[in-house]
Amino acid sequence: MAELNAIENTIEELYNDSKNDYIKMVKSVAKRVFRPLKPEDFKEVYLSISREQGKDLVTLIKKEQCKNIVEFGTSFGISTLFLAQGIIETKGNIVTTELIEGKALKAIENFKKAGVNDYIEVRIGDALQTLKNYASSIDLLVLDGWKDLYLPVFKLLEPNFHKKTIIYVDNADMLESKVFLEIVAKDDTYQLESMYGGKVYLITIKNEE
Ligand SMILES: C[S@@+](CC[C@H](N)C(=O)[O-])C[C@H]1O[C@@H](n2cnc3c(N)ncnc32)[C@H](O)[C@@H]1O
Repeated sequence: MAELNAIENTIEELYNDSKNDYIKMVKSVAKRVFRPLKPEDFKEVYLSISREQGKDLVTLIKKEQCKNIVEFGTSFGISTLFLAQGIIETKGNIVTTELIEGKALKAIENFKKAGVNDYIEVRIGDALQTLKNYASSIDLLVLDGWKDLYLPVFKLLEPNFHKKTIIYVDNADMLESKVFLEIVAKDDTYQLESMYGGKVYLITIKNEE
């Protein structure tokens, strides 16, 4: 399918470009040792999910027939392009959010290049503002933005969850993500499943029967 090829080619181009992420990250961190790191420090860095994660996300979307997807943390759009591969099959749509305008605009270019711009709405700005009063029900929520915002974003969107909603938590092994997951684990509504040795957690709604 032409559309899927265009997405795959764009994903490969972006992974190639992200090869310098490590060097850019080290430079960013080294320059800012005296204050906490901010998203702006990573304005040139992809920080993307792995190919394995991306492919597994496509499988999950197709298996669970997810249509309405919300993503916190677009960056340059690698993960969103994997999500797009999934929703092309399920005939769904994606709302994704990115704080740094330059990254969001580059992501939109990438979505156009991959031919999937029509299925993806990019909301530019702080997710806590851009997703405020979000009205649609959510089948899959991907959390991959700043980790201290996982809980507030989750709480903001919780009214949009339904019995089969899946919450995908990337970088679950980071300190702030762990705090978030501990809070969710205490809530009887949810169950948690670890993937890739704890790098990712899937949160689902407990079946009441
Ligand atoms: C780990 S990267 C996302 C990687 C992307 N999901 C991928 O796999 O290609 C996290 C992104 O979240 C963005 N971000 C951080 N705080 C945010 C906020 N409050 N609202 C929206 N985006 C935010 C950062 O600028 C950064 O680009």
